[in-house]
Amino acid sequence: MSNATAIHCEKLTKHYFIGLKRQRIEAVNDVSFEVKSGEVFAFLGLNGAGKTTTIKMLLDQARPTAGRAYLFGVDAARPEARLKVGFQPDLPNFYRFLTGYELLDYFGRLFGLPRPERNKRIEVLLKQVGLDGRRNEPLKGFSRGMLQRIGLAQALINDPQMLILDEPLGGLDPVGRYDLRHIIMDLKTQGKTIFFSSHILEDAERIADRAAIIHQGKMLACGTLTELQAVESGWQVEIEPVDIQETNWLLDSRGWMYKTETGIRIIDIPDREGMNEIAARAAAGSLRLISITPKRRTLEDAFLAKVEG
Ligand SMILES: Nc1ncnc2c1ncn2[C@@H]1O[C@H](COP(=O)(O)OP(=O)(O)O)[C@@H](O)[C@H]1O
Ligand SMILES: [Mg+2]
Repeated sequence: MSNATAIHCEKLTKHYFIGLKRQRIEAVNDVSFEVKSGEVFAFLGLNGAGKTTTIKMLLDQARPTAGRAYLFGVDAARPEARLKVGFQPDLPNFYRFLTGYELLDYFGRLFGLPRPERNKRIEVLLKQVGLDGRRNEPLKGFSRGMLQRIGLAQALINDPQMLILDEPLGGLDPVGRYDLRHIIMDLKTQGKTIFFSSHILEDAERIADRAAIIHQGKMLACGTLTELQAVESGWQVEIEPVDIQETNWLLDSRGWMYKTETGIRIIDIPDREGMNEIAARAAAGSLRLISITPKRRTLEDAFLAKVEG
């Protein structure tokens, strides 16, 4: 585990015991993964999957029942592990009567930033999250989207190397999601590591380098987006028949789905054997190949397959 590893979790486990009968809730079970420095990592799962509990263990807000976590190589149970980390909680519950500016100033003081530096950072951050013009309004008048933005600015006050964001895109309208995704991508280009949780797969598809899928406390899959999506479900092939009769006979006898557009057949070919057949016919000159497109599953397909399986 090097410094290039931003997060390292080893068999992280959290069980809660509730009620008089001490009923056991296995919120997180044996979860291991790594986040590399500089990457955008999506932590995906349905509501109740164990995302927030995992994040709490990374931040030492919950003690693991078993297992360990490290931030930049430092045991997450030690306070210095979080010096370079900014955190945006799910549903930030901020002091409603503070203005955006005052909130950031408050967190800046918590981090011991001297006033001139605080002022400088707050200026930069308010611009970065697009709240420059609203700095003197109290948070109680903020929309959900504005609260998410000020929450992100708050997480950035100590100029952290890594951001841990719990459902940063939750409850936002499409424009809000778009804006926040762009802010996250900007932070990545500044070299920051971003770990965010979401139950919305589209978010990961658009901005994450890698993702993990957690379900009922267990890790189902972890990998690059291409790896998670790359299960081939066949190919779409466009051909132009040279020998129309032979081509039609081939398509009908194979039972492949196809449609015809201005003489071109667009065919769904489910397997490699079918691809070989098409290639052989093309080589023999009875049809011309125009295009071959592998059909990849969307992350949503992959997710549903994992969750159901
Ligand atoms: N403090 C707690 N006490 C008891 N059960 C909890 C506590 N926190 C979370 N849980 C349970 O652990 C599971 C995972 O919750 P959570 O980590 O919040 O999921 P997520 O953030 O993915 O929606 C849920 O079943 C939840 O009810
Ligand atoms: Mg949660």
